[in-house]
Amino acid sequence: MNRSDAIIEVDGVTTVLDGHVIHRGLNLTVYRGEVMALIGGSGSGKTTLLRLLLGLEVPQAGSVKIFGHPLGRCAARDLERVRYRWGVLFQHGALFSALNVFDNIALPLRELNSVPDSLVKPLVMLKLAQVGLKPADAFKRPAELSGGMVKRVSLARALILDPQLLFLDEPTAGLDPDSAKQFVRLLRRLRQELGLTVVMVTHDVDTLFAVVDRVAVLAEQRIIACGPLAEVARLPHAFVRNFFLGHLERCAEDDLRRFRLSLDDTSDDGGVPALLREAEETHH
Ligand SMILES: Nc1ncnc2c1ncn2[C@@H]1O[C@H](COP(=O)(O)OP(=O)(O)OP(=O)(O)O)[C@@H](O)[C@H]1O
Ligand SMILES: [Mg+2]
Repeated sequence: MNRSDAIIEVDGVTTVLDGHVIHRGLNLTVYRGEVMALIGGSGSGKTTLLRLLLGLEVPQAGSVKIFGHPLGRCAARDLERVRYRWGVLFQHGALFSALNVFDNIALPLRELNSVPDSLVKPLVMLKLAQVGLKPADAFKRPAELSGGMVKRVSLARALILDPQLLFLDEPTAGLDPDSAKQFVRLLRRLRQELGLTVVMVTHDVDTLFAVVDRVAVLAEQRIIACGPLAEVARLPHAFVRNFFLGHLERCAEDDLRRFRLSLDDTSDDGGVPALLREAEETHH
């Protein structure tokens, strides 16, 4: 990969929260079009790293560049422009319980205020279909949704501004195996259709095997390894060994390919009707 294809460049970052050093001299590069997984023990600083990438946390030292813009040092207007090129699905869902599904998904559009009111409805309904939900779901409250539906609505909201970059923090955590599988299939499809770059925190091995190009391991306050799944899974490191325990034999290229193809076979992820897909293309 060429350095100029880098979408995210984290260079020598040190993060201190409440007097505790969370990251020390952390480096990470994410390239255009890849799905990068971030793994690491609980409390190792994965969510904090995402917050740094979103500009919600400021590092004590080092720099974070997204789309070539140095966060924290670019003008507020520049940051605003960058901000609308990414979408985020937070670890704890974070739908507004007082708003129905429609208004939750529409929120970023309304905040941005650059889309005429008449366009809000078709755009929201398009995203709803894109994540495999029915038009009638638009009028439900978050409390009336299943866990899998909450994730889909959150994903629709993350995608409403047509971002190039998507951050996902534990997107399949708390889902039953079937819903997790459907969600992963949906991600694979969206990634193919929208050409997204994805940074995803996950501790779910199946999700890794299904969608990820490279894996970064956060341990000892930095990224101790970053590379293709098959390479990272064989690292002689206690966390990595435990993480991939019983899954090493699935890492062979052929097995991975077979597993991924088997996911594409079934189409119960609420695929997007062709008509809607065309509408989406025209919108771009
Ligand atoms: N706002 C904060 N103030 C002080 N300490 C914090 C804050 N947010 C997180 N921390 C601490 O930073 C460390 C890393 O937290 P973080 O949420 O990034 O971990 P994580 O890797 O995402 O864990 P998990 O897998 O459980 O989600 C933890 O020790 C946590 O207690
Ligand atoms: Mg976390």
